Amino acid sequence: MQAQAVVGDDLDLLPHQHLSVSGMQVAFTAGPFLHVIYGIARYSGAKTLVEIGVADGSMSTLLAQVAYLNSGHCWGVDVDAACEIVIRNRLATMKFGPQWTFLFGDSAEVGRRWLHGPIDFLFIDGGHEYKQVVADLQTWLPQLAPNGHVCVHDTHNPDRADVRKATDEFLMESGINWDALYLDYDSGLLMLRRKKRPE
Ligand SMILES: C[S@@+](CC[C@H](N)C(=O)[O-])C[C@H]1O[C@@H](n2cnc3c(N)ncnc32)[C@H](O)[C@@H]1O
Repeated sequence: MQAQAVVGDDLDLLPHQHLSVSGMQVAFTAGPFLHVIYGIARYSGAKTLVEIGVADGSMSTLLAQVAYLNSGHCWGVDVDAACEIVIRNRLATMKFGPQWTFLFGDSAEVGRRWLHGPIDFLFIDGGHEYKQVVADLQTWLPQLAPNGHVCVHDTHNPDRADVRKATDEFLMESGINWDALYLDYDSGLLMLRRKKRPE
C-alpha cells in the first residue's frame, strides 16, 4: 500500500502563507518546529489543547486547526488582550475559528483557575523569564492528561537562557517521571510526556 501524505493534506487547510517552508520562518516564531508540534498534537489525537503565549496567533492558527481536525478545542492564554482581536481576525476567514478561545491574564493565574479538564497538548511559549517558566511548569503540568504532551519553546535560545535554566532544573528534580527530549537546534524545543508506569 502506498503511503499517504497525510500531514501535507492536513496542512492544506492552513492559509497559503503558512504552508510554504520559506514563509514559515516569518509566519511562525516556532517555525522550524512547526511540523513537530503539528505532528505531536494532531496524531496523538489531542482534543484539549492549550497555548501559553499567543502573540500574533501564528501557532494558535495551527493548533485551532488541529482542534478542528481532532474534534477538540484550543485555548490560547496571554497577558496581552490585543492578541484576541488579531487572532479572531485571522481565524475569521477559516472554518476552525469556533475551535479557539482566548483566556486573558497571567498564565500562572489562568492555570490555577483552569476548569476545562485534562490537557492533551500544552505549548509553553509565554513569559520567558525564569520565574515565569517555573510558574508555568508548576501550574500547568498537573493539568495534563496522563498521556498528554508538552512542548516548551526557546530552550536553545541564548537570548532566552532562563527558559533552559528552568527546564533543566525541572528535569533534574522531576525528570524521573517524564520522557523528555530536547531539540537543540534553532531556538530549541523541549518535548515532554509523563512516563508510563509499569502495568
Ligand atoms: C514569543 S510570544 C508567543 C509566540 C506564539 N506562541 C507563536 O508561536 O506564535 C510570547 C507571548 O507571551 C505573552 N506573555 C508574556 N508573559 C506572559 C504571562 N505571564 N502570561 C501570559 N502570557 C504572557 C506575551 O504577551 C507574548 O504575546
